[in-house]
Amino acid sequence: MSDLESQYAERMNLAVFEPLKLERSWTLASYRSIGGYDVWERLLKEKPPREQIIDAVKASGLRGRGGAGFPTGLKWSFMPRSSPVQKYLVCNSDESEPGTCHDRDILRYNPHSVIEGLAIAGYATNSTVAYNYIRGEFLGEPVPRFEAALKEAYGAGLLGKNVQSSGIDFDLHTFVGAGAYICGEETGLLESLEGKPGKPRFKPPFPANFGVYGAPTTVNNTLSFASVPTILRKGPAWFASLGPANSGGTLIYSVSGHIEKPRNIELPLGIPFADLLALCGGVRGGRKLKAVIPGGVSVPVVPGEIMLKTNMDYDSVKAAGSALGTGAAIVMDESTCMVRVLERISRFYMSESCGQCTPCREGTGWMNRLLKRVLAGQARREELGLLLDVANRIEGHTICAFGDASAWPVQSFLKHYRHEFEYMIDHCGRSLVGDTPGAQAARAARDRNLHGG
Ligand SMILES: Cc1cc2nc3c(=O)[nH]c(=O)nc-3n(C[C@H](O)[C@H](O)[C@H](O)COP(=O)(O)O)c2cc1C
Ligand code: SF4
Repeated sequence: MSDLESQYAERMNLAVFEPLKLERSWTLASYRSIGGYDVWERLLKEKPPREQIIDAVKASGLRGRGGAGFPTGLKWSFMPRSSPVQKYLVCNSDESEPGTCHDRDILRYNPHSVIEGLAIAGYATNSTVAYNYIRGEFLGEPVPRFEAALKEAYGAGLLGKNVQSSGIDFDLHTFVGAGAYICGEETGLLESLEGKPGKPRFKPPFPANFGVYGAPTTVNNTLSFASVPTILRKGPAWFASLGPANSGGTLIYSVSGHIEKPRNIELPLGIPFADLLALCGGVRGGRKLKAVIPGGVSVPVVPGEIMLKTNMDYDSVKAAGSALGTGAAIVMDESTCMVRVLERISRFYMSESCGQCTPCREGTGWMNRLLKRVLAGQARREELGLLLDVANRIEGHTICAFGDASAWPVQSFLKHYRHEFEYMIDHCGRSLVGDTPGAQAARAARDRNLHGG
């Protein structure tokens, strides 16, 4: 174990990944051995005021881990708890944000934390029915594991009607999506849950007033719900103290790209990105860090030298010009051609746009076509202005945040790496990265080997 690993060992897996130290961490027996369902059973017995739970979640500083970082307790407080109509909870396990891969591991390794988190949220918001909307591609392992855990929880009398003779009902159902990125957007998800195409709704009204089937609904991310049982078991103050002000608790960072050890790792918020990188074995082959997209591809790219001085919390990443998003850091080394990366990202947005808003439907296609022209050596320098203009016309002019998410990569790549785009235009499609002295030397060495020189 390296010095850094031992330094962080005590701060690793403190909340949602706590059961990972146990054999078959996904079983009810393992979950109960760390105090799982104690909070839920206490609520069933003592029936404290619902506001007390909401206040505790507020005090913990938990912010939604689905991307926007909205305070979870505050969101719960928007539910009309005293209204006599049916109220719902929805867990967003769609997890389609490129680079993000922790929700699937929560479903695989600690599904009971999601179930207990939902049950507690159900009590706090006075909702008696919940759905876990799981991405279709997770049929392999996460869905069966979650389903098995659900069966165990029902079998143990932890869910259902009049749970443990408390007079409290709580039913939870699994819903498997069909695998569209836009179904991760909460109102697109609600449409999909209702059996319709996943096209986001205009907001307001927000789901707390008009959610699934038009009824009050709270939508939270898998990691947000899964964090709640530990918060209430170990105390909101404990959770809040793990991270800096405004960024309470732990996050499961998904680190991918050009690193030695891509991994999901649960650590407190606010740790230096440089340490996170080192805990993942550093940049592959000891190369230089070029850039990082710190929160899934939907947030602006940050140059490596800035990221190395940035801490992984909401305020610090914002000050670095980006957003913490889902906490999925995509690492790029010095060999990366930023034009190619941006073209790939823009192709994703073009394919995934639901097509309702003209700026998004047309603009994502325009951006991708312009980038393809740059790569093919057919573009003129003025077209970079046009590319930025299209991105600026999408941002803030669409029904959902997908539009902004498609524009931010373009704006930020051009802000930090415009010279690479200009170089490619000026050199008929050749990449500046491919033409660096290092790349030229590597090509010369390869040619020498090929020709026996
Ligand atoms: C295009 C798009 C895709 C999204 N995908 C996801 C997703 O896969 N999972 C998720 O939890 N939130 C996703 N979100 C955010 C949700 O709309 C919503 O904010 C979130 O589920 C709320 O939960 P939280 O408050 O716990 O973060 C997405 C948003 C957008 C605009
Ligand atoms: S912004 Fe794009 S994805 Fe979102 S509703 Fe409009 S067209 Fe659909």
